[in-house]
Amino acid sequence: MISAIGAVASNGMIGLAGWLPWDIPEELAYFEKMVEGAALVIGRLTYESMDVVPVDSFIVSRQPDLALRPGCTRVASVEEGLQSALATGKPVFVIGGSSVYAAAWPYCDRFYLTRIEQAYSGDALFPAEIPVDDWPVHDESVSVFVDRRSGQDVTCRFLQYRQPSPRPLPKMDCISKTT
Ligand SMILES: NC(=O)c1ccc[n+]([C@@H]2O[C@H](COP(=O)([O-])OP(=O)(O)OC[C@H]3O[C@@H](n4cnc5c(N)ncnc54)[C@H](OP(=O)(O)O)[C@@H]3O)[C@@H](O)[C@H]2O)c1
Repeated sequence: MISAIGAVASNGMIGLAGWLPWDIPEELAYFEKMVEGAALVIGRLTYESMDVVPVDSFIVSRQPDLALRPGCTRVASVEEGLQSALATGKPVFVIGGSSVYAAAWPYCDRFYLTRIEQAYSGDALFPAEIPVDDWPVHDESVSVFVDRRSGQDVTCRFLQYRQPSPRPLPKMDCISKTT
């Protein structure tokens, strides 16, 4: 089972200056609860933005000598990251950012996507080619929270999409293990 998780504004923004465009603690808490105990596949920039990175995190980067925190392993491709994360036996979550979602979505069984019903300024977009709108919604709930940055109420729609026919992962010789 491979899942992706993320949050997107109504204008498609997911990131601003290396972090999120909003400050909604309840949405962040939802993310943390969902990925607890999972093996994660993370883009290098997203990894660098995180204060705490759990063990069994696979960081996608083209830099062979990238230095990482304990419990984290560099992988050269999203496919290698997914194979390595699956080999841990834990549930697998792809947590972004844009370029990693764009490469990983064909393999994902589920996409947990929080739609934040407000436009935000940003510099990282949810990839338009991910066809979540064509996938069945398995679960949905709605809450209104305060964005601590703007002080305004925002509606968050928590959606769980299921991809009907995810692509099988290619067979790989190289599976990375965390140390
Ligand atoms: N709203 C959300 O749910 C959410 C989730 C995650 C992130 N974000 C936000 O999104 C922004 C970061 O996203 P981003 O798209 O700019 O960066 P990113 O995907 O986190 O990281 C990009 C880096 O990952 C590596 N990479 C990506 N695809 C690769 C591939 N196919 N093969 C090998 N390496 C690959 C490259 O690293 P090297 O340069 O080292 O080669 C690339 O520079 C931040 O603002 C973050 O806060 C938001």
